[in-house]
Amino acid sequence: NNPPWPAYRGYHEYSFAYATMGQRLPTILGKGIEDVVLTLNQEYDEERIVDLVKCIERMDALKQELQGQAKLRPIIDDGEADVALWNKLIAKYFQGKTFMNAPWLFAEAYKYRRLQESFSVSKHWKNYDVFFRQKCDTFSRSSEAVFELSMRFAEPFTLRPNLSPEEQLEAERLMFLELTQICLWGNSTDLSLLINMTEDQIKSLQSTGGDHLAATEKNILGNHMKRLWETVVNLRASTGGRIDFVLDNAGFELYCDCVYADFLIQSGLAKEVRFHGKRYPWFVSDVTKKDWDWLLNSMVYGHLFPKASQEEIDSLRRLGMRWKQYEKEGKWVYEQHPFWCTGYTFWELHNEAPDLFLHLSRSDLVFFKGDLNHRKLTYDCAAPPSTDFEIAIGPMASAAGAPRICSLRTIKSDVVVGFGPDGDELAEKLDKEEPGWKISGKYAVVLLSEGRPG
Ligand code: F6P
Ligand code: MG
Repeated sequence: NNPPWPAYRGYHEYSFAYATMGQRLPTILGKGIEDVVLTLNQEYDEERIVDLVKCIERMDALKQELQGQAKLRPIIDDGEADVALWNKLIAKYFQGKTFMNAPWLFAEAYKYRRLQESFSVSKHWKNYDVFFRQKCDTFSRSSEAVFELSMRFAEPFTLRPNLSPEEQLEAERLMFLELTQICLWGNSTDLSLLINMTEDQIKSLQSTGGDHLAATEKNILGNHMKRLWETVVNLRASTGGRIDFVLDNAGFELYCDCVYADFLIQSGLAKEVRFHGKRYPWFVSDVTKKDWDWLLNSMVYGHLFPKASQEEIDSLRRLGMRWKQYEKEGKWVYEQHPFWCTGYTFWELHNEAPDLFLHLSRSDLVFFKGDLNHRKLTYDCAAPPSTDFEIAIGPMASAAGAPRICSLRTIKSDVVVGFGPDGDELAEKLDKEEPGWKISGKYAVVLLSEGRPG
């Protein structure tokens, strides 16, 4: 039940795995420690201080293990719902492995689980998020794109009067395609890659204007957006569906996801949207429930943007209030299944989390956002770029009950599939002409799999 291609590993020097395991992860941990020190310096209660110092010691030890070829050990039973899943996986495949010679996807996920453990075994700091400050800060520095969107979308979506039915549908189609791209490119602001972003860098990543979107569409190297539109229109014509988002990053990306989901609800393309987040801090910027609440509450009550005009603040508040109302009415639901924070790929989802698989199979369309979700869908292995998406995701396309899936991913790591019949040549050309094209986030894919009835 595994794909025929080898999975990337830390010692593969040609792969982004090598730089990630050797340099990026120790840097991320180091920055995490700096954050805890900041908190420590603001704490006054001795018992809490001593407790937090031990968290730092555990993070330090983890950093040593990461850099010192230590063997991966089981996860301590800290009461989290995923401990059994983790230890089963370690016992079955990764006993005696190190961070460098275990598959990259697993080893990287394991690092974030061990980081969580550094806090979960403490008394006072179980829910501490070493990335929370960074996540909030980046959103606060995204004002230009945030207001560009809120000023446009705070008013409920309406079609110009006097349009013929065909013209109405065309207007909706154009809006859908634009928002799909906004949702897609929202994924390029990923804190794990852009550790010290300047305001200008953030701005250039978040440009949302129409011209920009036309230009960026040619960077979507596997593009099923047309089919995607047909799919959602058909959904509306039948029952008006349920659409799920397996979320990726907090802050600006989540904000774009919500703008998109808002349109899906308003246009009747979806009746219900379910968002799937993480139970604890994950791959630096991934969404937790705390990030979700922070975003909606900051939009409604926050003072994040001191330079903004009253009109801008009002637009953001109205948008936030509408989204909160969706939550109250059950049109938007936030969920956090333990499986999302494990080292399993999604090839194993139907076996290791059958309840979640069944739950997803009841959805009409599941969006998987971002790079990590794409790696998990595709087993993070060296499949040829011309491989069909449906083949690359294995049981998530072929198992009975597999949901309809759409991966919205800006390319930030090695695995690329779904490029079409000439995809291998295209990738080869880019390898030659634009080294680093696979980690820049400049290119993307929008890939659809129809799923299989249960
Ligand atoms: O460490 C690499 C990685 O796992 C890549 O997936 C990507 O560079 C980043 O971390 C996460 O990206 P995303 O937030 O889009 O999943
Ligand atoms: Mg992420």
